[in-house]
Amino acid sequence: MATIPSLSAVPRRLEGKVALITGGASGIGECTAKVFAHHGAKLVIADIQDDLGYSVVESIGQTSCKYVHCDVTDESHVKNAVDEAVKTYGKLDIMLNNAGIADENKARIIDNEKADFERVMSVNVTGVFLGIKHAARVMIPARRGSIITTASMCSHIGGGSSHAYTASKHAVLGLARNAAVELGQFGIRVNCLSPFPLLTPMTSKYFGSTNQEVLENTFKSWGNLKHVTLKAEDVANAALYLASDEANYISGHSLLIDGGFSIVNPSLNLFQYPNEN
Ligand SMILES: NC(=O)c1ccc[n+]([C@@H]2O[C@H](COP(=O)([O-])OP(=O)(O)OC[C@H]3O[C@@H](n4cnc5c(N)ncnc54)[C@H](O)[C@@H]3O)[C@@H](O)[C@H]2O)c1
Repeated sequence: MATIPSLSAVPRRLEGKVALITGGASGIGECTAKVFAHHGAKLVIADIQDDLGYSVVESIGQTSCKYVHCDVTDESHVKNAVDEAVKTYGKLDIMLNNAGIADENKARIIDNEKADFERVMSVNVTGVFLGIKHAARVMIPARRGSIITTASMCSHIGGGSSHAYTASKHAVLGLARNAAVELGQFGIRVNCLSPFPLLTPMTSKYFGSTNQEVLENTFKSWGNLKHVTLKAEDVANAALYLASDEANYISGHSLLIDGGFSIVNPSLNLFQYPNEN
């Protein structure tokens, strides 16, 4: 019987790999940094929240993790973060474009300000463009790499968030697909993670709630998959898959982490069991 190479692989799924995570000081990025480190990756955390970034490095350990101040809207910062990864660890295998913001939730487009729209597009889209560009710069000569962008369920549906946020998350999916087409010739995979809402500092701010239990219960009530609460670790594990060699032939994909939410039209209510929910 033929052997399956992945079965003989060590359990540390990112051993020997180098990853750069933007927005790695908090929320999904912080959790992913810890999961990647647990699986043997060397890390660069790039963020604008320096104190939080250094505390993530502290918890992972300075021998395998370093913090770089990086505003993803500034090309010189993104270039520097990528160059720091290569200078410190010799290469860049994984780029996770995760930094993102949401604007204030205003129901009516006529109340939305151009400056707010542009701020969200600048971080969520221009920041990702710069991340893909500079990761590609060092991955092309190596003829390998995995570029991942934290997109959203809002990349796939309308009405899930503000106009700016939804527009930005649709845009990064298009950008990732285009980049997957271009960079495939160099063996570089480009994918997105598309999570359902989960509790992080960003969603607490967006929904104006500091009561974590109330917010999580709200998200749960929206979900298609019941009796499960989406956690940052679930998103981190999806990132781990896309980053690892187990996803060797996965490119141009948006991995929805939404418990089936985006494929359901709940108004049909077709499969309701009388005694459930
Ligand atoms: N939380 C959710 O429900 C959810 C769902 C789908 C997608 N996402 C996406 O996940 C990503 C991470 O968000 P989160 O929920 O963990 O929020 P978060 O606020 O905890 O983390 C976002 C991080 O990005 C950093 N950041 C913001 N602007 C930056 C900039 N200009 N340069 C560098 N870093 C910057 C922040 O400092 C923060 O550390 C975002 O792209 C977000 O849109 C979140």
